[in-house]
Amino acid sequence: MLRFTLNGQPVEVDVSADTPLLWVVRDHLKLKGSKFGCGMGLCGACSMLVDGQSTRTCILPVAAVINRDVVTIEGLGNPEITSVVQQAWTDGNVPQCGYCQSGQIISATALLKNNPNPTDSDIDNAMSGNICRCGTYPRIKAAIKDAANALAKGKGQLQAVHMFEPTEKEA
Ligand code: FES
Ligand code: FES
Repeated sequence: MLRFTLNGQPVEVDVSADTPLLWVVRDHLKLKGSKFGCGMGLCGACSMLVDGQSTRTCILPVAAVINRDVVTIEGLGNPEITSVVQQAWTDGNVPQCGYCQSGQIISATALLKNNPNPTDSDIDNAMSGNICRCGTYPRIKAAIKDAANALAKGKGQLQAVHMFEPTEKEA
């Protein structure tokens, strides 16, 4: 049995240690927000936060996240309670087909966690691994700036939904 934390909840899965995390989350744990694009670590559609870093999970064996914290798009917020980045995405009508967007939001969230006031080039660097075939890049950049402004004004959170009881460490 392999154990890790998914969106704040401990999970255990009985899978081969080399199964990519993306398939464990989608097929075994039934969270479908993270997408399969290239399967080669090149497009970013499968991105999840692993200990706060945007990580390509199509090429990451689940064994690599044992006892680590994994957060998917579902762990950031939901349609009723959106994270600040999700809200900026909605307000800015960012998605076109939408396929790449959960990965984009995950990478934008990781960026703002590490750097709440990113420059254009910070955004370009942080988002360069997330490909959008619909070319929504200008709206993505604008939404990241809007999210940064909202955070600076104390509006919204990077992770709006807590799907778990606070632990002693978080209290
Ligand atoms: S599906 Fe993982 S990087 Fe493309
Ligand atoms: S919105 Fe279609 S691939 Fe990005």
